[in-house]
Amino acid sequence: MTTAKLVCPVYTFDYKLLLPGGQELTREVLDELVATNKGTSYQAHPVLEYGTIYQDLTRFLQNPPYNISFEKSSRDDALALMNKINFIQPILKFFDYFKEKDFYTYRHSLVVFAMSIIMAQDLLEESEDWIADVMAGTIHDFGKVGVPLKILKKPDPLTKVDKIILEHHSLAGFVLLSYFHQDYQNFAAWVSKEHHERRDGSGYPLGIPLRDNMVEIIAVCDIYDALLSPRPHRPTPYDNRTALEEITEMAKKGKIGWDVVKALVSYNRKDRPSIQEVNVSTEKRGAPLKEDLGRVVVEKQIECPNCHGSCKEKKSYKESTEYVKYECRSCGNEFDEDDLLNMEMDLH
Ligand SMILES: [Fe+2]
Ligand SMILES: [Fe+2]
Repeated sequence: MTTAKLVCPVYTFDYKLLLPGGQELTREVLDELVATNKGTSYQAHPVLEYGTIYQDLTRFLQNPPYNISFEKSSRDDALALMNKINFIQPILKFFDYFKEKDFYTYRHSLVVFAMSIIMAQDLLEESEDWIADVMAGTIHDFGKVGVPLKILKKPDPLTKVDKIILEHHSLAGFVLLSYFHQDYQNFAAWVSKEHHERRDGSGYPLGIPLRDNMVEIIAVCDIYDALLSPRPHRPTPYDNRTALEEITEMAKKGKIGWDVVKALVSYNRKDRPSIQEVNVSTEKRGAPLKEDLGRVVVEKQIECPNCHGSCKEKKSYKESTEYVKYECRSCGNEFDEDDLLNMEMDLH
C-alpha cells in the first residue's frame, strides 16, 4: 500500500496542530490521531436548515446549465434526500468560513454535493449503501480550509509551490475529517483523499487508480462544475458544450469512466435519451464531422417523374459501394437512376 505523506501541517479551525508537515500517514499515525479525539461529541444539525444553505443551494441549482440539465423533479428529489442529512458542527463550520471568505468554494461545494446525489440516484443501484456514505458529510474540498486564501483566490497563474499547497487540500481534508469523525476509514475522509485520483493513476495525491463509483461521480461533478465556473485565474468559464467535450476527452484517455460522462451528456440533451443508450459525440466543436457512412443527404435538382416536384438525392453506402436514390419532397416517391432512365425510355 502506498503511504501518503503530508507536505504541510494540518490544523483545526481553532489552530490546534493535528499533524506536522512531512508526516507519513501510516496506520499507526492515523490510529493515534483518531484516538486523540475519541469520545468528543459534536452537535449535529440538518444541513439544509443551517444558515442560508437551503435558499442558496436552491438558487444555485436554478442557474444555467443546472436548471436545464436537472429537471425540477430531480432537483427536488436531491433536496428531499439532503433534507435528511445531518452534519456535525465542524463540517458546518466549513460553510460559514467559505461563505464569508471565498464564495466560490461555498457555492461549488454545495453544488457538487447536490449534483452527485442526483447522479448517484440515476447511476447506482444500491441506494441504501451510497446514501449512508453520503450522509457522512462528503464535502470533497473540506481540506481547502487548510489552504491560504491568497492561493485559493489568486488571480495570477500558480507557482509550483502554490500548486503543491493547493493540492495539499485532499490530504488535509482526509486528516481533518478522520479526526472529526473519529474514524479514518469513513467515506467522507476517503472522498476528500481520492477525489483528485483518476482511473489511469494520473491524479493526486497518491497516483492510485480511482476505484469507487460514488467517488468517481463526485470527482466528475467536481470537474464539471469547476469548468463551468469563473475562477480568479480564469474569469471566463467554459461554455457547457466545451465543458462536456473536456470531460469526454478525459473518458477517451481512460481517466474517468464512460457511465458518468454518458449521464452528463444525457442530462444535457433535449430528448433525454436513457443513460445506457446515449451516444456521446467524441467530435470537438469546429472539427469536421466524420462522414456518416449510413446516410448522406445532398441537394440536387431532379424532377419527380410522378408529380414533377423537387427531389433530394440520398446516397447510401454498403460495403464501400455508393448507391444513389432520389426522394420526392412532395409525394415521397423514391426512385433511382435506373428508374429515371426507364421512365425516359417509356416516354419515347
Ligand atoms: Fe478538490
Ligand atoms: Fe472541487
